Amino acid sequence: MAAAAASPRRVSVFQSPQELGRALAQLVTEQAAAATGGRFSLGLSGGSLVDMLARELPSAAGPAAAPERWLVALCDERLVPLEHPESTTGAYQARLLPRLPPPGPRVLIPATGLAPAAAAADYAEQLRQAFPGEDVPVFDLLLLGIGPDGHTASLFPGHPLLQEDERIVAALTDSPKPPPQRITLTLPVLNAARAVVFVATGDSKAAVLKRILEGDAEENPLPAARVRPRSGRLRWLLDQAAAKELTLPVEKPPPS
Ligand code: 6PG
Repeated sequence: MAAAAASPRRVSVFQSPQELGRALAQLVTEQAAAATGGRFSLGLSGGSLVDMLARELPSAAGPAAAPERWLVALCDERLVPLEHPESTTGAYQARLLPRLPPPGPRVLIPATGLAPAAAAADYAEQLRQAFPGEDVPVFDLLLLGIGPDGHTASLFPGHPLLQEDERIVAALTDSPKPPPQRITLTLPVLNAARAVVFVATGDSKAAVLKRILEGDAEENPLPAARVRPRSGRLRWLLDQAAAKELTLPVEKPPPS
């Protein structure tokens, strides 16, 4: 797959994860209010993003954001039961969804009880039905995290899935980040989105962010560095700890 043209990217650094969370919630609700076509399609990642959204999104998601028009999918999911503490779907179902105004969004629930390949095929079919006529689903907004190793969603450095350019959802059974069995959106979907926002907080992300945002172009870019949405709308929302090794000018929004 030819590398997509590099997208202009905006890096915003916030005083704290709380400030970042408030700005993120505002960004989500503004994009939801501006979405066209009668709905807002949103892809969510797991990890620390769950609690950040659970903390900040309910108060920001007022009537204009119309969560009942949202279609929510997971950018990746661990193949564990929904009630398992490692389930991202379960975490959103417990901590965020009940706090959004009823009836709340339509959420595509991964069939995590299936075998990995079947779970991926099932989720791909759910997406095809939710995005009729789109070989590659075009999300309005994807929220991605990044690991210290540069992984995003469940796309890990050196993994064959980085070359996947046919399937929209793939399965892996060797995730270096436990749990090992996961499904994930693939790069064609991530790069088709109208907007992608990376969210990163904490010292552990500082080195990989320096490498991705200020390093030289790499022969074999890290997974997060391969996310270059063709729309050109790519933003990085960082807290000061995650941004501490950056030297290039960044946006420092005033405290909200
Ligand atoms: C997952 C995530 C994963 C996550 C990163 C960052 O379910 O594991 O989708 O890609 O976003 O590992 O996680 P933290 O924000 O918790 O560091």
